[in-house]
Amino acid sequence: MTKKTIKAIQQQKGGRKITCLTAYTSSVAKIIDNYVDIVLVGDSLGSTIYGMKNTQKVTLGMMKAHGRAVSQYCKKSFTIIDMPFNTYNNNKEALANAKSIINYTKCQSIKIETDKNNIGIVKYLTKNKVKVVSHIGVTPQKYKNFNKIRTAGKLPNEKEKIIKLALNLEKAGSCLIVLECMKETLANEISKKLKIPTIGIGASKDCDGQILVIDDILGISSSEKKPKFVKSYANFESIINKSVKKYCLDVIQKKFPSKKNVYK
Ligand code: KIV
Repeated sequence: MTKKTIKAIQQQKGGRKITCLTAYTSSVAKIIDNYVDIVLVGDSLGSTIYGMKNTQKVTLGMMKAHGRAVSQYCKKSFTIIDMPFNTYNNNKEALANAKSIINYTKCQSIKIETDKNNIGIVKYLTKNKVKVVSHIGVTPQKYKNFNKIRTAGKLPNEKEKIIKLALNLEKAGSCLIVLECMKETLANEISKKLKIPTIGIGASKDCDGQILVIDDILGISSSEKKPKFVKSYANFESIINKSVKKYCLDVIQKKFPSKKNVYK
């Protein structure tokens, strides 16, 4: 069994699309590892696992605990772990926290939400042998209220600024770049201009890869309003409802545990 390297992922640019999903637990990681190229332990776990309204209260401890659980079951896929809000404000802090995530979880790279003010941090981490995935477009850590999020690249001058940012992040050493919730034409242009792969979420099918949150594709999301870019491939909410209802009925009707489930 061979583990995907960043080089192998980068070589997919212009070839087979890169498949990525988030995972937060070992049981899910073990399943999806058979299919996807990349597993991201996203700070979206703030809402999917911890029921938070935004990602600003996600801690380093949470990312490390879930990161380790996931990482040990990713035998083939390339692993990325999000650095949470307020943990990469300057070079020294970013490097210490990135190293502590990598050392504890054995993940292959970290992801940070980037803008023109932290390009230097990408450069510094890369120089110190940390593989950095940049994240541009909509960067959720900036929002307390997700209802305020709007598609990136629609305002005049915004397009040029985002393209410049993407090019500078590549130059600074980013190994991959996530493009979240941006105009399709802008995502296409960035994907064409960069040598590193672009991973889209609400961006364009012409990105080099796609990522979605696992809870969303399985239909177990707790959020009421789903973004347009989400596609559900199953309705686990309904499966859980039916299973739990049946279990409760079995217990009440003394059908569970049956002879098979007890020790003689
Ligand atoms: O936190 C997350 O899950 C993410 C992806 C959705 C890109 O950043």
